[in-house]
Amino acid sequence: MHTIVDRQELTKRDLISLTLEAPQIARKIRPGQFVVLRVNDTGERVPLTVAYRDAANGTVTIIFQVVGKSTAMLASLGVGDAIKDLCGPLGKAEHIEKIGTVVGIGGGSGIAVLHHLLTGHREAGNHIIGVVGARQKDLLILEDEMRALCDELIVTTDDGSYGVHGKVTDALAALVERHEHIDRVIAVGPLIMMRAVTEMTRIYGLPTEVSLNPIMVDGTGMCGGCRCSVGGETKFACVDGPHFDAFKVDFDELIQRNSMYGRDERLSLLTSIKAR
Ligand code: NAD
Ligand code: FES
Repeated sequence: MHTIVDRQELTKRDLISLTLEAPQIARKIRPGQFVVLRVNDTGERVPLTVAYRDAANGTVTIIFQVVGKSTAMLASLGVGDAIKDLCGPLGKAEHIEKIGTVVGIGGGSGIAVLHHLLTGHREAGNHIIGVVGARQKDLLILEDEMRALCDELIVTTDDGSYGVHGKVTDALAALVERHEHIDRVIAVGPLIMMRAVTEMTRIYGLPTEVSLNPIMVDGTGMCGGCRCSVGGETKFACVDGPHFDAFKVDFDELIQRNSMYGRDERLSLLTSIKAR
């Protein structure tokens, strides 16, 4: 069992942060790795990336959006409640070394994943420029934490309610136009955003990595649920990733696969709301 020691509602749109006791995972997990949890004995396995770890206090923090029955159950828990199990760390850790200037681009809830990755790049001595985007001001998460982490942070909102009016790709274009030297771009967010970033960085010739979040079931390479095409080969994001060279990823295929269960997720969420 893993007890919840902190719970925060980050936005009005069901984005929740839970900090859980998990001393072994907190000690071992590296930026980019993820965990799979079950709320109870009969619960489905939910893969989630860790936004922070606190090895000294033995805790990990996950940030998730309520999209279906399981995440709704998770969101209904409070401080002092416990979840049945938490398995991890899973996936490959991001390869981190001192390379120069890293531009981290995060969209929506992807900012939580980006935060952990950039923490590693910062610790390795890199210059960090963060670009974070949300549709509107009150959907933006972790602004203070990102500001503390980055040498420079650019915030965008689609509706112009805060920061630069536009999308993260507009901020990336502005960075390139001001002749910022960029050694690597890391993008985490909706697939459509990662595809748009990749289309730009390909033109600019900027090495780019993305963190993929395909459908996952076991998280250990057994079920094939998370398969994606990278460089013309089938890869399993849970064991071969979740980080990949963005220029090799078949985003169109992934967007199609990820939308397969959208209707079922919405239905299960509605059913669980009605049952409450
Ligand atoms: P969103 O749709 O509100 O978009 C967030 C930002 O991404 C926008 O403000 C914009 O700046 C940028 N963006 C979106 N579409 C774009 C486009 N076509 N071109 C350029 N920029 C674009 O984001 P959301 O609703 O919070 O997204 C959540 C999604 O992120 C979910 O689909 C979730 O699965 C995914 N996600 C991915 C990861 C990961 O590891 N890759 C982690 C967490 C969440
Ligand atoms: Fe089953 Fe990756 S989640 S193979």
